[in-house]
Amino acid sequence: MATILLLSGPNLNLLGEREPAVYGTDTLDDCVATARTAAEAAGHTLEHVQSNHEGVLIDAIQGARGRCAAIVVNPGAFTHYAYAVADALRVFDGVKVELHLSNPAAREEWRRRSVVAPVVTGTVAGFGRTGYRLALEAAISRLDP
Ligand code: DQA
Repeated sequence: MATILLLSGPNLNLLGEREPAVYGTDTLDDCVATARTAAEAAGHTLEHVQSNHEGVLIDAIQGARGRCAAIVVNPGAFTHYAYAVADALRVFDGVKVELHLSNPAAREEWRRRSVVAPVVTGTVAGFGRTGYRLALEAAISRLDP
């Protein structure tokens, strides 16, 4: 049984009210519940941290070292420029899944670059709340038996 950390970056606390045409009407609690169900169905435990502050996310990533087997992270807009988040993920040696509700590759030019993508195991994007289940299943599929 492993502990998996789900990290939610800035503005994701506003899911449900924030640009529903882009991000849907599900709240962050709904998305976390979906992720938790997927983790627990496989016998694992999910922890969740949401923050609007880069340093809090970095502290959570560092705190997962040696304790969590995987990190699933939706870094929000930090995806596109937060090198310190990418560096923190780089030194986490478990499974890492980058997750987005929308498909940033199909949106504005500035969203098409992810500084996190080079340091993760893989990415799930564009499937809204369903992506939280897919990302957990993807992470679990890469855990050591
Ligand atoms: C997002 C995509 C980012 O570009 C954006 O800044 C977000 C949410 C997503 O889940 O689709 O905050 O990470």
